[in-house]
Amino acid sequence: MTLILKTNPTSPDPDILRRAAEILRRGGIVAFPTETVYGLGAVVYNEDAVRKVYIAKMRPPDNPLIVHISRESMLEEVAINIPEKAYKLINKFWPGPLTLILPRSPNIPKIVTGGLDVVAVRMPAHSVALGLIDEVGSPIAAPSANLAGRPSPTTAEHVIRDLYGRIDAVIDAGETLYGVESTILNVLTDPPTLLRPGAYPVEEIERVLGESIYIPPFARGFAEAERALAPGMKYRHYAPETPLLLVEPRSGGLEAMVFTIRSLAIEHLGVGERVCIVASAETVDRYRDLPVELLVIGSRRNMFEVAKNLFKTLRRLDDLNCTIGIVEGFEERGLGLTVMNRLRKASKTKIPV
Ligand code: TXA
Ligand code: MG
Repeated sequence: MTLILKTNPTSPDPDILRRAAEILRRGGIVAFPTETVYGLGAVVYNEDAVRKVYIAKMRPPDNPLIVHISRESMLEEVAINIPEKAYKLINKFWPGPLTLILPRSPNIPKIVTGGLDVVAVRMPAHSVALGLIDEVGSPIAAPSANLAGRPSPTTAEHVIRDLYGRIDAVIDAGETLYGVESTILNVLTDPPTLLRPGAYPVEEIERVLGESIYIPPFARGFAEAERALAPGMKYRHYAPETPLLLVEPRSGGLEAMVFTIRSLAIEHLGVGERVCIVASAETVDRYRDLPVELLVIGSRRNMFEVAKNLFKTLRRLDDLNCTIGIVEGFEERGLGLTVMNRLRKASKTKIPV
């Protein structure tokens, strides 16, 4: 039902790219790796194919898709009136995990942008993604290749778990590099607005821009308030099936966090629950005496590792069949902001300590 095409991530097999491109050109939908997560692609100009993407993912039609391009000459095909600021960022960060919100070209069907007059565009830094777009010869619209509400896929196995039989093919090139999605920036506002923290830290982008970026509460993972600014951000994301409690270290620091998590675990164990704790390498030993399942997400000194393991860990958590998950929070600096955005969206209850 779903064709699985295996290839090397760095020097993709031209035959595989040709077969995948052929499926796309005929109006099919194909999952492919990028440097962030796997995407589910359709030719951007084929409205029926784009509609299939929404259906396969069970994604609400007002949550727009990112347009992926392989060369700068494709940019003027999808966006118009591109501000100078955008080019500054493009020169520095493309190809790479930065998505820019730009005025939509009339070429782009409205179904791609969920009816909006702006379009999200990025150039992925992955040989398979770039090779595929080149081979197709047109931009590819692609959301992450997971069922709506599930953690984004960082391997082809994750894609197959969620979408087998619902899509025409998946190109399997192994695990993705960053493991979290691209940073989304709206450069049309003054100052620019962060719509989603991602694989590029905001601080790096600010350095290149030479100005501060506005970070609205929803970009930190707090829901509701500013919905209208970012259609699509209103949907619950990254949710594992296991209910999650997130304990956020604030003024109390790591000691208070560990103390609270231990107390919560003991309380839930006392009423017969199966408890799983998602901890960092630095703190995991503090829970070893408890009859809980332990998952290590990475070291606090290496947030790249924590971000890379994040979605994988949320999926693993579901496989453990615990009735409750308790997860440690991280400092909101650099990739910590990206990690906390995803953890807040994934968790039912947030407990600051
Ligand atoms: O790294 C990534 O960005 C991955 C890979 C596959 O490229 N893609 C990805 O797509 O994460 P998706 O659809 O899961 O997330 C895209 C986000 C959505 O939250 C959507 O609301 C927002 O981008 N978005 C897309 N177009 C937009 C637009 N025109 N205006 C505002 N937000 C937009
Ligand atoms: Mg997604």
